[in-house]
Amino acid sequence: MIIHDTKNLLFTLHTRHTTYQMKAGPYGVLLHTYYGARLEDADLSYLIQSTDRSFSPNPAEAGHCRAYSLDTLPQEYSTSGVGDFRLPSLELELDDGSQIADLRYRGYEVRRGKYALEGLPAFYGTAGDADTLVLFLEDAVSQVEVQLYYGVFEAYDLITRAVRVVNHGSRPVRLRRAASLCLDLPRADWDFITFDGRHAMERGFHRAPLRPGVQSVGSLRGASSHQHNPFVMLCEPDAGETHGLCYGAMLLYSGNFEAAAERSQFAESRLVLGIHPHHFCFPLAPGEAFTTPEAALVCSPGGFTALSQQFHRAIRTHLRRDLYGQRRKPVLINSWEAAYFDFSAETLVQLAQEAAPLGIELFVLDDGWFGHRDSDLRGLGDWFVNREKLSGGLEALASKINALGMDFGLWIEPEMVNEDSQLFRTHPDWVLGAPGRPHSRGRSQLVLDFSRAEVRNHIYEALRSILSSANISYLKWDMNRSLTEVWSAALPPERQGEVYHRYVLGVYEFLERLHRDYPQILIEGCSGGGGRFDGGMLYYTPQIWCSDNTDAMDRLQIQHGTSFCYPACAVGAHVSAVPNAQNGRVTPLETRCTVAMSGTFGFELDLRNATAEEKAVIAGQTAFFKAHYDLIQTGDYFRLTEPGRETRFTAWAYVSEDRREALVSIVTGAAQAAPPFQILRLRGLDPSLRYKVNGSEVLYAGDALMQAGYPLPMLLGDYQSLQLYLEAANP
Ligand code: DGJ
Repeated sequence: MIIHDTKNLLFTLHTRHTTYQMKAGPYGVLLHTYYGARLEDADLSYLIQSTDRSFSPNPAEAGHCRAYSLDTLPQEYSTSGVGDFRLPSLELELDDGSQIADLRYRGYEVRRGKYALEGLPAFYGTAGDADTLVLFLEDAVSQVEVQLYYGVFEAYDLITRAVRVVNHGSRPVRLRRAASLCLDLPRADWDFITFDGRHAMERGFHRAPLRPGVQSVGSLRGASSHQHNPFVMLCEPDAGETHGLCYGAMLLYSGNFEAAAERSQFAESRLVLGIHPHHFCFPLAPGEAFTTPEAALVCSPGGFTALSQQFHRAIRTHLRRDLYGQRRKPVLINSWEAAYFDFSAETLVQLAQEAAPLGIELFVLDDGWFGHRDSDLRGLGDWFVNREKLSGGLEALASKINALGMDFGLWIEPEMVNEDSQLFRTHPDWVLGAPGRPHSRGRSQLVLDFSRAEVRNHIYEALRSILSSANISYLKWDMNRSLTEVWSAALPPERQGEVYHRYVLGVYEFLERLHRDYPQILIEGCSGGGGRFDGGMLYYTPQIWCSDNTDAMDRLQIQHGTSFCYPACAVGAHVSAVPNAQNGRVTPLETRCTVAMSGTFGFELDLRNATAEEKAVIAGQTAFFKAHYDLIQTGDYFRLTEPGRETRFTAWAYVSEDRREALVSIVTGAAQAAPPFQILRLRGLDPSLRYKVNGSEVLYAGDALMQAGYPLPMLLGDYQSLQLYLEAANP
């Protein structure tokens, strides 16, 4: 609900559990007054205190009033050059060389339904789901208008933000920074939580108190990156899963980003999230506009679980555009870890023949099917079938797979090219690369300049003929290197600061076209696993390969970090062979299944080598996953332990909305002799209901399971797993 008190220029956004408020204060400066637990309507600007602070300048209108300074007041969208020395959200360079922006309130607009952003991913919603507030600010000297967009999804406690900067002046300006979100809070005793790692070990949970100055994470790799995720949190120092005030902020963007938190001199704090200003510069001629990517906020007054669940619900229902519909998504088998580049049509059909009787429904042909792609040194860009491997082409292969009752899917990496390819030999100028400089290679490949329409169109046409050649119901969109020598032959020198962003816009435009032309195709995002796992990609690719690391124990940590923002239905997860290809660890097959079914569930191993016993396990686990699909994919997610801290076991649960069903998964660590008994306290159940556990005769009271817990059996051996299916017995 949006409440606009136009007399007092007070704007209040209410969600089910939270309240967010801004006020245009003296001189039209838009101040942030409150964000936290839901309050009744009131003007909370009484919370803002000001006094004469040395070295904190006062705007000209304040005359000799030394108590009014932008340096100390909570700003709704911070500027630079006029007295606020904290993190800026907007940096403008005028054609006289000055770098000053001074924003003042000019007006507002309220709309039913959720605003959309042209060419950019955004949460969507009609009237009834969400409302929109737009606040108009202006820098009077340059006549640059800044439109602050707010989308309010009341049911999900979700507030989206985006900013449009319009040059209404008669002279050009250069946009040097335009953040999507600025959040000023009146205290600084927060922990800053980020999700960081590296290739094959993404999104680890890191938490540290805010210290004076600026702390930030970000990416300059051209993609959101394996190293840091564009989702961060602030929380009270003692906050945990079930208690404490916390804020989560996600950026729906797949390129360079920065998430920065600042603890100010007076122990207040500011969070700024948006496109990374490094390498970014967008000239705006008179009349031109720039729109930032969308950011989304959830505040939970009661701990991390509620925060994550709200993000999960909103992403599931108002971000992913899952045209696969309400149908259950197929359990898949992927050829990569089974065959790598070494396969023929016969090998692939054999793999599928092994998979079909086990209940696996989709066969995905990964890398190696096109051009002369017999290793990762060549072939990218040549999107035509390698007839030496697949003599009958994709059509014959897909028909054979379909005849087994399975769907057929294909891997692509459209943004890339190898120098050893027909495409590169014909169009060497289509890659990103700066004049006079050699190209850095990444995985021996170069990056196509996706900021250019003719490059995208060429690849799109090649892809269209592939898609029309066979019955293809799934695509895996990969992206296997970071961007370097970012310079586009299509833009003049003064516009090279646009290229990183235009590259991302190009990827989005391509994906949008695919989505529009092939709505029946399920697209899974991938970037060497989780190198582009973000809300931007989720708008186009409803699931993303979470990590190249398929080891069940490492995956516990990766999926734990991922779960803070992203729902299980978005998390690509497969069972692979042991010893694991990434770390050599051996884990039981049941454990690998337990972990992989906490995501989209699939297999990535050579089933021709599987024993009859292993096949029986796979068939059983696949049937179990299908039986509990809705619970896993749409149930509320509870982290019951914290991997890393909890040495004995890791546990998590899905609970249905009506609290009548739950699936609890438990994975133990390395074996120990004479282990102590373990009792697991559950969460999210209905205290008044009684539950059967795995069909038990005994009924367990919901309150007892949550307060006293459930005793876990002693599991011998390393890395064992157990799943408990709870079903309410009483009406
Ligand atoms: C990286 C992906 O993450 C893998 O799953 C696989 O598709 C390879 N690329 C293929 O080159």
